[in-house]
Amino acid sequence: MRISPSDRLFVLTGAGVSAESGLPTFRGAGGIWRGYRATEVATPEAFHADPLMVWQFYSMRRRKHQEVKPNPAHFALAELERQLGERFFLCTQNVDSLHEQAGSQRVLHMHGRLMMTRCSREACPSKPFEDSAAYETELPKCATCGALLRPHVCWFGEVPYELDRIFAELNRSTILMTVGSSGVVEPAASFVRLARRNGARTIYVGPEAPANHDCFDEVVLAKAGEALPGMVKDWVAA
Ligand code: OAD
Repeated sequence: MRISPSDRLFVLTGAGVSAESGLPTFRGAGGIWRGYRATEVATPEAFHADPLMVWQFYSMRRRKHQEVKPNPAHFALAELERQLGERFFLCTQNVDSLHEQAGSQRVLHMHGRLMMTRCSREACPSKPFEDSAAYETELPKCATCGALLRPHVCWFGEVPYELDRIFAELNRSTILMTVGSSGVVEPAASFVRLARRNGARTIYVGPEAPANHDCFDEVVLAKAGEALPGMVKDWVAA
């Protein structure tokens, strides 16, 4: 694939881009968070039934996040952003901050941020705030209204963040590249269909073919940290 001066690149990353940093994926080989199933723990119903269990899951992930570092895939994407400027758009399903740590400037976290917390009461006027604390024995409460605090992440059954902006970017992109996503969780799994309908070229990078593999013009079966640095180098050189 070549990137011409008139191309706009939309990159969608999934859990696979952080796998080589040591963060487990949700699905695929080796993908499960120490016995937790995302579909059982990442839901409003789970939080309602057992908020401490849900906080324990996210606290474990917060602790793990503090031990890991970006890998060559994150750095390659940051380099691509430096080269393409505003013709590059990065949308991640990941709640980790590894893209930012690698130098990516404009990252849209459609499923929220692991290191942020917000009030669980929709009508509360308080705002999400940066928070790396682990809550494992006592539940945190909102300083404004006293309701339970929750992780600032999108759970199954909730609407992902900033979809309008995502669709606007998708509609004007000429290339869509997905990295490390199993292609089963909507709406992200359908981005490639939309991009393709608009005439964009589409490419997937990851060691296993995703569920939506037939929507991609090109599937590069390789680990992101091994494939992306070379791919980006070639694109930048061309
Ligand atoms: P998944 O865990 O579903 O899929 C991870 C993908 O990464 C799999 O297809 C693996 O083959 C691939 N993979 C593994 N190692 C890789 C590597 N080194 N390089 C590249 N790819 C690799 O993750 P997502 O598709 O991101 O949502 O999952 C989507 C959403 O489901 C998540 O954001 C989360 C989850 O439940 C919520 O929590 C709302």
